[in-house]
Amino acid sequence: MPTTKPKIAVLIGSLRRNSFSQQLANAVAAATPGLAFEMIEIGHLSFYNQDLETATPPEPWVHFRNAIRSADAVLFVTPEYNRSYPAVLKNAIDIGSRPFGKSVFDGKPAAVISQSPGALGAVNANIALRQVLVSQNMLTLAKPEFYLGNTRTIFDADTGAVTQESAGKFIAAFGAAFTAWIARVGVAQHPALAPAH
Ligand code: FNR
Repeated sequence: MPTTKPKIAVLIGSLRRNSFSQQLANAVAAATPGLAFEMIEIGHLSFYNQDLETATPPEPWVHFRNAIRSADAVLFVTPEYNRSYPAVLKNAIDIGSRPFGKSVFDGKPAAVISQSPGALGAVNANIALRQVLVSQNMLTLAKPEFYLGNTRTIFDADTGAVTQESAGKFIAAFGAAFTAWIARVGVAQHPALAPAH
């Protein structure tokens, strides 16, 4: 029996108060009892600049890198901006990816979920982000593909709770699939999950 839950660093591609992406992240955390989720702040990270990659890089970069390094897996929750994912998320990935050869994302299990108040569920952002994670050698969950559309009708405006039953089931199914994925590929990161023989 695992003694601790795998730790999941959650990176959210929206800085907006009452963000639907944030609400979705909260809903996944609530529906996934086998994982311990930690929301990682990215809005304060300065734009990546290689000139700052010295022996003493900016303190927020160091904190961010340590937060990802200490996680067993990473969950990306993104909206769509102009048919891709927001710059704030790309900046965080760029910071974590450097110095060259020392990416803190390397080899970690990951999942990408996306949402939009529009009908398409930010599918373009989701796919664009998955493509970038290949460069980081991340082990990204393939299915279920998670594009949540019409999010304005899914979360309670006051509490953020999921009010639509089918969406709640989808979120729970995703959480179960991600938990199983981490157990399957994340053993190196979390030895407590090694299957018993
Ligand atoms: C958007 N939005 C948007 N939605 C979408 O489905 N496809 C898109 O290409 C875009 N493009 C876009 C660009 C910019 C600059 C903004 C600010 C917004 C709308 C977007 O889905 C909506 O604002 C969501 O509420 C953003 O997610 P959060 O902030 O609620 O998590």
